[in-house]
Amino acid sequence: MELSSITTKSSQATIASAKKFLEKVLKEAREDAPLIFYLEGELGSGKTHFVKGLAEALGIKDNITSPTFVLMKKYAVSGSTAARQAGKKLFFHIDCYRIYDSQDARQIGLDKILENPRAIVAVEWAERIADIVPKPYWKLVFKHIDDKTRKIVIKNVQR
Ligand SMILES: Nc1ncnc2c1ncn2[C@@H]1O[C@H](COP(=O)(O)OP(=O)(O)O)[C@@H](O)[C@H]1O
Ligand SMILES: [Mg+2]
Repeated sequence: MELSSITTKSSQATIASAKKFLEKVLKEAREDAPLIFYLEGELGSGKTHFVKGLAEALGIKDNITSPTFVLMKKYAVSGSTAARQAGKKLFFHIDCYRIYDSQDARQIGLDKILENPRAIVAVEWAERIADIVPKPYWKLVFKHIDDKTRKIVIKNVQR
C-alpha cells in the first residue's frame, strides 16, 4: 500500500496537481478494470477542484461543478492519448453527498459504472458507498489546512 501526500496553496494548484497525478496513474492503469478515484473530505476541501483537473487532462471542455443534485455526470474522454492507450473512453463524476447508502447507489446504477473497465470514475463522498467501490482504487483524503491550503493524502488501495 503506497502512501503519499500533496499540499496545494491555491485552487489552481489543486487542479494542476490532479493533472499531474492522472498522467502518472494512467501509465500504470489496468485495461481490465476501471480507474477509480475515491475522494473523501469535508465540504470545501477541494474535491471538485481536483476533479476539474482530471477532466481538463482528459480533454473535457465542460465546466465541472459538483453533481450534488444530479448525483452523476458522464463525459466522453476526448483529448488524452494516455487515456486512450489505457482503454479509457468515459469519465464519470459522481457525488454521493445526497446518497444515503450503497442501496441507493445501486438503484441508480452506480455499481455498474464502478465495474466498467473503459471508465475513469471520480467519486466525491465515496465513503458513503464504500462497500460497492471495487478495488483497486486511488483513495484521496482532502484536508482543509487553512484558507488557501489543502493537503491531499493519497493511498493506492489494491486489496
Ligand atoms: N488549495 C486549494 N485547493 C482547492 N480549493 C481551494 C484551495 N484553496 C482555496 N480553495 C477554495 O476552496 C473551495 C473548494 O471547493 P470544492 O473544490 O468545491 O470542494 P469540495 O468539492 O470538497 O466541496 C473553493 O471555493 C476553492 O476556491
Ligand atoms: Mg464537491
